Amino acid sequence: MTHHSDAAPDRPVDPTRRLALGGALGAATAAVVGARAANAQDAAPTGHLSGKTAFVTGGARGIGLASAEAMARAGANVVLFDIATADLPNVQYPLSSEADLATAQAAVEAHGVECMSYQGDVRNLADQQDAMRQAVDRFGSLDVVLANAGVSRAGPIEDATADDLSILFETNVNGYVKTTQAAVPHLRDAGGGRIIYVSSGLARTGNDIFGLYGSTKWAINGFAKSAAIAYGRDGITCNVIAPGLVNTPFADNEAVLGYMMPGAENPTFAEVSAAIAQGAPLGVGHLEPEEVAESVMFFTGDATRTMTGEVLDVSYGSAATSIG
Ligand SMILES: NC(=O)c1ccc[n+]([C@@H]2O[C@H](COP(=O)([O-])OP(=O)(O)OC[C@H]3O[C@@H](n4cnc5c(N)ncnc54)[C@H](O)[C@@H]3O)[C@@H](O)[C@H]2O)c1
Repeated sequence: MTHHSDAAPDRPVDPTRRLALGGALGAATAAVVGARAANAQDAAPTGHLSGKTAFVTGGARGIGLASAEAMARAGANVVLFDIATADLPNVQYPLSSEADLATAQAAVEAHGVECMSYQGDVRNLADQQDAMRQAVDRFGSLDVVLANAGVSRAGPIEDATADDLSILFETNVNGYVKTTQAAVPHLRDAGGGRIIYVSSGLARTGNDIFGLYGSTKWAINGFAKSAAIAYGRDGITCNVIAPGLVNTPFADNEAVLGYMMPGAENPTFAEVSAAIAQGAPLGVGHLEPEEVAESVMFFTGDATRTMTGEVLDVSYGSAATSIG
């Protein structure tokens, strides 16, 4: 993992960057990136995020990593921020390991961009501030932020302990707020940027088994709208994607699958997906993380430069169906 502690250079705001991440890389930024990146830039992709910096929480795997790779393919240098601690009390399944984070960094670098990984906790504001400061020192700016690190919980509402509630809300709600607090000064310095929050299809309706988790995501749908108002004049857009079931360890674990198919013995992710697909408009029952990443990319692009406070359902038609 890379650590830089130099103070960030003072950079004039480039008005061409305001709300338009496709703008030219500022001269001062280019100077910071400088010769160190010359070799990497020879091979670097030249997409609409070329010369930009993307910060991804929960980037070691799943939706975060798939989105990081998509942004790298579009030319962004990437920061992968992840707790990288597999066994966390009050989480029902293993989170990423340090090895996962190292593998993820290599996967992003393979796209020809630079990648910094940072082992930190979104529940800790100082961790995120430190990681973003290092990112700006190294890459010259912060332009796109994906608030994505989250934990799930399956089970009856009345069974949740105070510690279960604490990790859910501290990670999924307060963590996203802290990501925003840490990012906004840097996005302002860059003349604007994009914050994308990963919420959930469970924040569009109620659910007795995932209700507490869903509550955290409802909170984010609302928070994003407030952030959109608060930071719009800074050229910062704040949007939400709300995915259905996604094929990651977050959903493909015993606790979640067991509650989704009660009565089935050791249900698999494929079986749960097939059951959902039966009643779904498109006959699709889950998404791969790469499909969700395409929606993340939508909110980094020029087409969405005047969209903010939106919640985009990415849920294979679930939003079209009625409850019950
Ligand atoms: N998988 C799904 O079915 C699904 C559906 C809808 C929404 N989501 C949401 O998408 C986001 C990503 O989920 P995923 O499926 O990729 O999950 P995942 O478990 O595969 O990845 C989440 C990553 O976040 C990291 N993380 C967890 N707590 C952290 C913390 N406190 N600080 C820093 N990093 C932390 C984990 O180590 C892991 O690498 C989550 O917010 C989740 O709620 C997932």
